Amino acid sequence: MKIGLKTISALACTLCVSVAVGGSAYAGPDDSSLIIEGQNIATDVKAPEGSAFDQLYSGWRFRATETQSLQEDDFENPAFVAVDQAIEEFHNVDGSAGKSCADCHSDVSDFKDVRASLPRWNAKTNKPETLENIINECRTERMGAKAWKWESTQMLGMTALVGLQSRGSAVNVQTDGPMAEWFERGKKLYYTRVGQLDMSCAHCHENNFGTMIRADHLSQGQVNGFPVYRLKWQGLGSIHRRFKGCMDNIRAKPYKRGSDEFIALELYVASRGAGLSVETPSVRN
Ligand code: HEC
Ligand code: HEC
Repeated sequence: MKIGLKTISALACTLCVSVAVGGSAYAGPDDSSLIIEGQNIATDVKAPEGSAFDQLYSGWRFRATETQSLQEDDFENPAFVAVDQAIEEFHNVDGSAGKSCADCHSDVSDFKDVRASLPRWNAKTNKPETLENIINECRTERMGAKAWKWESTQMLGMTALVGLQSRGSAVNVQTDGPMAEWFERGKKLYYTRVGQLDMSCAHCHENNFGTMIRADHLSQGQVNGFPVYRLKWQGLGSIHRRFKGCMDNIRAKPYKRGSDEFIALELYVASRGAGLSVETPSVRN
């Protein structure tokens, strides 16, 4: 085998990852509790039967105190700028039917608990649907409007606003019946080693959560807080953006946002957080 520069830097990086993961102290989760606007948010729960974990922890429990505190107060939480914009967008008439979201959904609070059980089965399309899929179906089928791009400002704001209505509700996704096949597909993706670093999601988020990887404190990689406001992104990002970022970091070719692979993975990862509170919109570094 010809060893090029790329291989060498990948090897060097494998080393730094394994040193960082294997060699450093276990440092968390911490024991803070999260209360937002007087509401108790369950950031750890006993893992359900069959789980790879004993206890499930929200990513919030692995963040630095300053980052944690941004999520404890909606006035401090930078994601709420986007939530406010989405409230306006909700009343915006768009598309050939001349309708706004509010024309059919009189109050966003009608969406209570929707986020907690996503992705869910859609019998019409014969596949699971995410929140982005649901919103775009309303736009294209019911408003005669153009679909929003997965990572667009409007979509991120709207998924944050709709998701917020489930804040505090326990994550509970269907994994049996027609979802079973997708669950298995997501599980397989989760445990498959990929990329130049030849790692799977489980290497970091199952076997090494709680340890430091370079300067970052590894969590269980839960999705209960999405879309999240990441300080690094200076804005909101979707679950699929985060998946893509993790795949980029291990130098794997990432799947596309909205792809069947990422929808299956979203379902599987969501099921690993069953019982945790929805935290949308959360704040991470
Ligand atoms: C012309 C009417 C109409 C418009 C306009 C509309 N929707 Fe819907 N929406 C529906 C119907 C009908 C459903 C399906 C209701 C059901 O399944 O109970 C639905 C379902 C939903 C759901 C899932 C609700 C649940 O309880 O499962 C969400 C979230 C949603 N819409 C968001 C939006 C957003 C955001 C907009 C604006 C971008 C919008 N909708 C515009 C009619 C509309
Ligand atoms: C090399 C280690 C590594 C691998 C492999 C990896 N990740 Fe991550 N991931 C991280 C780090 C570091 C973070 C940021 C700190 C944290 O929350 O764990 C992160 C964050 C996340 C988060 C955000 C958690 C939160 O609370 O905001 C999710 C979700 C996630 N990863 C999913 C995945 C999935 C799915 C895979 C497999 C496709 C994967 N990761 C592979 C290192 C990794």
